[in-house]
Order: sequence, then structure tokens, then C-alpha cells
Amino acid sequence: MLATLEPNELDLTPPPEIVALLNKRAHKLRMLPAVAVEALELAKNPECTISEFATFVERDVKLATDMLKIANSALYCPTTPILNLHRAVVRLGFRECQYLIMTASVSSLMNRLPLDQEWIREVHSRHSFNTALLAIHMNRIFHFGFQGEEFTAGLMHDFGRLLIALVAPERFKEIDPMDFDESPETLVREHALLGTDHCRLGAWYATQQKLPAPLPTVILHHHQPELAEQSQKLTTLIAVADHMANHLQRHEESAGYNPDSNPFWPALADHADATVEKHFHELVPAMMEVTQRDAASLMKS
Ligand SMILES: [Fe+2]
Ligand SMILES: [Fe+2]
Repeated sequence: MLATLEPNELDLTPPPEIVALLNKRAHKLRMLPAVAVEALELAKNPECTISEFATFVERDVKLATDMLKIANSALYCPTTPILNLHRAVVRLGFRECQYLIMTASVSSLMNRLPLDQEWIREVHSRHSFNTALLAIHMNRIFHFGFQGEEFTAGLMHDFGRLLIALVAPERFKEIDPMDFDESPETLVREHALLGTDHCRLGAWYATQQKLPAPLPTVILHHHQPELAEQSQKLTTLIAVADHMANHLQRHEESAGYNPDSNPFWPALADHADATVEKHFHELVPAMMEVTQRDAASLMKS
């Protein structure tokens, strides 16, 4: 039962020709730049001060600039602008800043992957931001207590689709029509055509690139959160958000979305407070509308 194991215990290695193509096309691209890897380690040290952390991250000017851009975006809506990393850590806290580092790094990589067809990046980016923002809203509504990991996980959940576009540009539309009409057959089709699927490929790549837990687990199991032995609440949250984001992608509006059609909602509702759960259906349309607006603004920034 491979699927019930955690990513580091699984052999997620894609077929050798896929590995060779990835090495060729994404050879020098890193999911996390060197400063990001070290900063994430530094943040784990209880003796690390805010100044030390901020000064260290500022060694990578692009990373620091990207982090500030996100800290000042619709994602956090600060009442006054956050002008430097020191202030960002004070406002957001160490834990949230660790995910800010990952979000900034991964967004940058998504923009740099050398894709043959730009429309794929655009569509993928909209879907990723929609999923991430919906995860943030539900985390707040249900008081799940995630501190940034829900946004990073939402942003990354379909990273494997970009990798497929990278290694199989001519066959991409056959493997992944990007119609956002997903079923259990989706992964079966990808596997038959490619020898892997976007969940396994994304999780393998994230593990290779030393992306910390729980991200590889969420990427691997977001189509079947019940198989995640760890981080199941987060994985289920992303699966619920993904289903809603797929509707937005197909219809470009929240109208017509029925939360009862979401196959992952009952499992997520088990983690939610019963009084809030009762109002969820009423909250969904507004949540989806705000998400669309904020995703458009994040994509522009
Ligand atoms: Fe997916
Ligand atoms: Fe998705």
C-alpha cells in the first residue's frame, strides 16, 4: 500500500526519461535559494533574534524584496506599509515568516520555469492563488490555527502540473487538458500517459528540493487526503479549497457552486466547530468572490 506512506518513505521517483528532462530543463533552478534554506534553519533556533533573522534574509536582496511585496499585499492587508523585514517579522511572527520565505521562493520559481506556453503559467497561477486564498479564508473562519502553511500549501499543491508542462510540452494538453473538471480518472490518465502523475511528480520534486514537511505530503495527497497519515487536516483543507477553485476556474464566478458537491467537505467539517460549520454554506459565495478579486491583485503584484 504505497499510497499510505509518507513521501520520504515512498519511491516517488519518476521514470528516468522524466528525470533526465527535468535535469536538462530545470537544471539550475532551485525551489529554495541558499539563503532561504539557511534562514529556515536559523528560524528554528530559539535563541535567534528578530534582528539576526532579518539581517540574514536581507543578504538575498531578491528574496527580501519578494517577501516584503507579499507582506504588503492583499494577503496580509497591513494597516500601515511594512517597510523592512525586521517589521515583517515583528508583525507576522517567526513561524509565519518561514512560510513567507517559502511562498516568495516558490512564486519566484513558478515565474522562472522555462515553459514553452505562457498560457499554462497564467492559468496555473490563477488556480494556485485561488486555492491558497480559499485555504486562508477557511482557516480563519474555522479557527484551524494554521499560520501560513495553508497559503504555501495551496500555492504549491499543483506544482507537479507545471513540471509536466516543462518535461512534456508537446503532449501537455493530452496529459492535462487544464479543464479543471477533475475525477479519480485524472491521475489514472496522467499515469498511463507519463508513468507518473502531477501529485507524485510534485511531491518527488519538493522532497528532492528539501522543501520541509508538511508540504510534500499535501502535494502528494491533495486528491486523496484520506491517505495522508500526517497533516491530514491541512491536506483536507487544501482538497476542499482546490474543489472550490476548480469551480472558479471553470465558471469564473461563484454562482452555482454547491458546497454539498465538495467530496472533501464532510471530512473537513469533522474538524470544524459545529456553530461555524452551520454557517459555512452562507459564507461560501462571498468567500469565493473576495478570493477572485484578491487573486487577481496578487497575480499583478
Ligand atoms: Fe491537483
Ligand atoms: Fe488544483
